Amino acid sequence: MQFMNPWESRWQEGRIGFHLPEVNPYLIRHYGEFLKKSPENVFVPLCGKTLDLPWLANRAKKVVGVELVSKAVEEFFTENKIFHSIQSAGKLQLFRSDSIDIFNGDFFDLTQEHTGFFEAIFDRGSIVALDSPERQKYAEHLLSFLVPGGRLLLITLEYEQDQMSGPPFSVPDKEIEMLFSQYGRLELFETTDILDIRLRNKGLDGILERVYQLEKY
Ligand SMILES: C[S@@+](CC[C@H](N)C(=O)[O-])C[C@H]1O[C@@H](n2cnc3c(N)ncnc32)[C@H](O)[C@@H]1O
Repeated sequence: MQFMNPWESRWQEGRIGFHLPEVNPYLIRHYGEFLKKSPENVFVPLCGKTLDLPWLANRAKKVVGVELVSKAVEEFFTENKIFHSIQSAGKLQLFRSDSIDIFNGDFFDLTQEHTGFFEAIFDRGSIVALDSPERQKYAEHLLSFLVPGGRLLLITLEYEQDQMSGPPFSVPDKEIEMLFSQYGRLELFETTDILDIRLRNKGLDGILERVYQLEKY
């Protein structure tokens, strides 16, 4: 049997509990600061079919996502009834529309030659989707897309990793500091305790969600 990427299986089997039926509340709460400089373009790495894409597209000229699983990209355009074209872009495929482009393929194969540079990046469910060895590579690659003075809004989770296996993985505050503070001014906007019955039943006795902003030097 051919090996199926775990994310491919999740999408095929509809195990996409991470997908929100609404725009991310933290994005709504913090966009005033995050998009203060009215960015031309916003990048959404590991975007799934998030409704944050059209919401951001109403506040910037162009929004660009990258997503590994084609089913997610197809569902995004179909469910939101957005007319689009599809073209090949090296190892990736580009689904292109007026204000939202999504590259279907591996984030690590995406370069500035595909997209140019961005003034803002929104990461929700992205760094926490990657295991520890990939996160260093992710941070470095992600920041290579951001212009100096550009902003990254970043949402993380922190819990005892031996109480639950990821994804989503725990990315502790210390690790965020270690990965990102070298690139710019890192600010913690808020920390929320999100422990509920479902997470308690999974074995967790605590879980914090954090929202950071990084302004690149
Ligand atoms: C936890 S989901 C979050 C999706 C989205 N950000 C949201 O808030 O709904 C992570 C997504 O990243 C995609 N993904 C995982 N590894 C990837 C990679 N290397 N390149 C591009 N996408 C990837 C998965 O298919 C999945 O849709």
